[in-house]
Amino acid sequence: MPNALITGSNRGLGLALVRTALTDGWRVYATARRPAEATDLRGLAGEDRLTILPMDLMDFASIDRLAGHLDGAPIDVLLSNGAITGTKNTAFGETDYDDWADLSRANAMAPMRLAEALVENVAASQRKIMFFISSRIGPNPNFGFVNYRATKSALSQVALQIALALKERSIVSSCGHPGWVATKAAAAGTDALTPGESAQMLWRIIPNLTIADTGRFFDPDGSTLPIVTQQHDAKPYGMTRPVG
Ligand SMILES: NC(=O)c1ccc[n+]([C@@H]2O[C@H](COP(=O)([O-])OP(=O)(O)OC[C@H]3O[C@@H](n4cnc5c(N)ncnc54)[C@H](OP(=O)(O)O)[C@@H]3O)[C@@H](O)[C@H]2O)c1
Repeated sequence: MPNALITGSNRGLGLALVRTALTDGWRVYATARRPAEATDLRGLAGEDRLTILPMDLMDFASIDRLAGHLDGAPIDVLLSNGAITGTKNTAFGETDYDDWADLSRANAMAPMRLAEALVENVAASQRKIMFFISSRIGPNPNFGFVNYRATKSALSQVALQIALALKERSIVSSCGHPGWVATKAAAAGTDALTPGESAQMLWRIIPNLTIADTGRFFDPDGSTLPIVTQQHDAKPYGMTRPVG
């Protein structure tokens, strides 16, 4: 039976991903900041295939404790979903740098720390997949939500860096956008996906990724988008000395 580890599992998309993976017959390690208060997640716990573990993205020692608790268990899919999504949309000149520092730690640095802490668990599995829920807000060229936007751009770069570092070990590292999803993080529009719809679309992609997909950014319909490589493709070395 394959194993998944999903962060930020107590609500929103993370909860829906746990439900989807369990329905698909997987064993799931679901992390939450405060498992005792994760009522909806605990409601799925009639299953002996669900283990709920504490982990706070702001507290790297809790990531190390998570690795210790797993004690070498293979992780086929390491799914980094949790993030600080609620943030103020400040105007230019009013940037909240303390908020930005918190978002950077939780949204970009912690997923890297998670990958470093659990790489041997992923390496010991059959599928060897890491997937990072990023956002298309990162590369979109409109002003607003600078703090969140910057951390999601950084996260996509982190996923690419991990892909480059671990390719020779046949470990896949990809990232993607879940769509516009009606959760606490995003006001529901009439055309927003439900968390269940987004999770099912993502779950058609994530467990089936192969090493050919490493370093890619996915939309939930399975199409791919560039992360950061267009500049290099257009002009490999940037400014160089003229020849001759
Ligand atoms: N919804 C969208 O339209 C949309 C679009 C693009 C990308 N995304 C991404 O999709 C993912 C899921 O988003 P969502 O819409 O489900 O958001 P959400 O409803 O706000 O859920 C966020 C999850 O992250 C957890 N979390 C927050 N801070 C944490 C911390 N310090 N340590 C551990 N967990 C923490 C939350 O737990 P608590 O309950 O403890 O806070 C919650 O489980 C995020 O990465 C988000 O950036 C969402």
